[in-house]
Amino acid sequence: MPTEGLTELISAEKIAARVAEMGTEISRDLAGIDELTVLCVLKGAFIFAADLVRHLTLPCRIEFIRASSYGTHRASSGKVMLDLHRDPHVEGKHVLLVEDILDTGLTVTRILEELRGHNPASLRVCTLLDKPSARTTPVSADYTGFTIPDVYVVGYGLDAAGRYRELPYIATPNA
Ligand code: IMP
Ligand code: MG
Repeated sequence: MPTEGLTELISAEKIAARVAEMGTEISRDLAGIDELTVLCVLKGAFIFAADLVRHLTLPCRIEFIRASSYGTHRASSGKVMLDLHRDPHVEGKHVLLVEDILDTGLTVTRILEELRGHNPASLRVCTLLDKPSARTTPVSADYTGFTIPDVYVVGYGLDAAGRYRELPYIATPNA
């Protein structure tokens, strides 16, 4: 039963079914590569990435990159902070960037710019959620779980000021 103050938007069952489908599709598309580097964008994509990789039938290496743009506000700050002190280990690799949500598009655009500078063999984007109507920077994903309207969502890794990441479903906070 949903937590008080939240309205469920996508159930845990629907998420699980879609994540399994995405895993099958990615595995089919990339069949034959020697290794896939799954680059999980922290913090929001940690649950999605953990579930997705268990549906991949490819040899994987799992890496993490930390990006933050929101602080504790619900509107994009317009600035994206990346943990660039770390080598993302993507040189010469087939990379799948795994994000929780494409909103304005700034975060993924910044990460892609950075990764291209490290010369990956290939680079694809996989996002659980997409809010195309919120886009200010043109970027799209190769794999999208669900397209949603421009509403703030929480759960399954996504937070509001650090809360609700643990919920197994996706919900909108009641106004
Ligand atoms: P963008 O840079 O505006 O595309 O925002 C991407 C990041 O903002 C995501 O990785 C999320 O961390 C966060 N974000 C955007 N929309 C939402 C939302 O509805 N709920 C929670 N986090 C969000
Ligand atoms: Mg994020």
